[in-house]
Amino acid sequence: MPALAIFGITGRMGQSLLRALHESPAFHLSGAIASSASARLGREAAGEGAPTGVLITADSAAGISGAAVAVDFSLAEGVAAHATACAAAGIPLLIGATGIDAAGHGVLAAAARNIPVLIAPNTSVGVSVAAKLVSLAAAGLGSSYDVEILETHHRMKRDAPSATALALGEAVARARGQTLSEVAAYSRSGRHEARSLGSIGFSSLRAGDVVGEHTVIFAADGERVEITHRATDRITFARGALRAAEWLIGRPAGLYDMHDVLGI
Ligand SMILES: NC(=O)c1ccc[n+]([C@@H]2O[C@H](COP(=O)([O-])OP(=O)(O)OC[C@H]3O[C@@H](n4cnc5c(N)ncnc54)[C@H](OP(=O)(O)O)[C@@H]3O)[C@@H](O)[C@H]2O)c1
Repeated sequence: MPALAIFGITGRMGQSLLRALHESPAFHLSGAIASSASARLGREAAGEGAPTGVLITADSAAGISGAAVAVDFSLAEGVAAHATACAAAGIPLLIGATGIDAAGHGVLAAAARNIPVLIAPNTSVGVSVAAKLVSLAAAGLGSSYDVEILETHHRMKRDAPSATALALGEAVARARGQTLSEVAAYSRSGRHEARSLGSIGFSSLRAGDVVGEHTVIFAADGERVEITHRATDRITFARGALRAAEWLIGRPAGLYDMHDVLGI
């Protein structure tokens, strides 16, 4: 069974990955990494349930040692250092963390010259399929339909719009021959003007414990098409991440996404 290292082990996703591993043991856990400020350094990786026998460390190089693949569900600020450590050790890396800035993406692209790097802001298989449906709808309906993207997440989420909402916006823009940055409407507050033709609007709600919901609305006079994905349990992201991590082992160096994993 291949060895897996997890960055962000103490978080909601880190623990969901352990739950998914328990349900379907495709890997054995070889390393568990948290931040240097973590209250759980030196403790057992599993916060509850069956112990893994792996202790939490803040030392990336030690945490990934011996792993066949690493998955990163830490926060955006940790990603660059994790990618650099994986590139130095020659370990394939799946990036599940979101909110990564341009400098962070530059580091990921540099790491991808040495190792396979899969950037997956949403590892749910259902979301990847929904994105494909969104591309089809955008190409078929054309730019005369108003597109609005609505996302809802739990109160703790830091980045907005969600990376998944942005990816859905990219899918619409690409299918319509647009550049997202030129047509995106992130805020209408204080702007007393009608909606501009061809724009793609984004709205973010943050409330309670919502795991993640995305709706893409295509609206014209007389009709509306809506494509919605609702995640009700983080286990769906964890299962998809493990499937993607298995796929990543043995790939050539380069940048990949979930569509490569699913072949769609
Ligand atoms: N790809 C997907 O499908 C998907 C799905 C859900 C969430 N996400 C993204 O995944 C990330 C984690 O989400 P979450 O809800 O699990 O967050 P969370 O509960 O806040 O967990 C964050 C984890 O990262 C660790 N961490 C923070 N800064 C770090 C650093 N500099 N170096 C190493 N570890 C660090 C934390 O450890 P300590 O606090 O113990 O130090 C904790 O284990 C977020 O970016 C979220 O948007 C992606």
